[in-house]
Amino acid sequence: MDQGLKGALGLTGPEACLAYYRDWADTYDQGFAEGMQYRLPAHVAAAFLGAGGQGPVLDVGAGTGLLAERLREMGFQGDIDAVDFSAEMLGRAAEKRLYSGLFRADITRPLTLPRRYGGIVSSGTFTAGHVGPEALPHLLDVAEPGALVALSINRRVWTAAGFERVLAQLADEGRIADLRLPEVEVYGAAAADLDADHAGDRALVALFAAA
Ligand SMILES: C[S@@+](CC[C@H](N)C(=O)[O-])C[C@H]1O[C@@H](n2cnc3c(N)ncnc32)[C@H](O)[C@@H]1O
Repeated sequence: MDQGLKGALGLTGPEACLAYYRDWADTYDQGFAEGMQYRLPAHVAAAFLGAGGQGPVLDVGAGTGLLAERLREMGFQGDIDAVDFSAEMLGRAAEKRLYSGLFRADITRPLTLPRRYGGIVSSGTFTAGHVGPEALPHLLDVAEPGALVALSINRRVWTAAGFERVLAQLADEGRIADLRLPEVEVYGAAAADLDADHAGDRALVALFAAA
């Protein structure tokens, strides 16, 4: 892997993150996702559809579109829009022709999108060196009432970055309901040969309804 996972998880801010994905976009699918047997998009897609998720769907930090690929493979036929702040990652996603709309935006800021969503999904974006819980209220602002949300949150940052606290607070305020947290493996067995430090990473799939 040229760019690789280790560098991505050590990123220190949005500028560094953007520069990193600018260079990683071309090799992300073959070098990283195939090499590490990256399973998180499939786990999020299965959790979302298994809980009755419906469209239109917003894929948050969509990257090269792996989560939309898994949703389509699992039979989802509704509209999927992508939001990501990397033009290069969105460019790779656009080539797959899976999304109705592709929007370049920083999800840590209020989002101006042309519609609201019946479902919101995300894989791999809420992790070390990436996005923290400050994005969650902005996502709720573009959700239809009752929308199903399925977001992966890396176990390493669940408490440390404040996801546990912020989701509990959003539940207390009545902004989300029915929070479930199935835990999944991020990578397959092949990852051990490429990156022993992260091969065993686990994530929670935060599944909840927007109020
Ligand atoms: C690890 S990749 C995950 C991509 C895809 N969801 C997947 O599972 O393969 C993280 C993505 O989050 C995007 N990202 C990071 N910070 C962001 C932010 N503040 N706003 C929007 N996108 C962001 C990156 O550009 C990158 O495409």
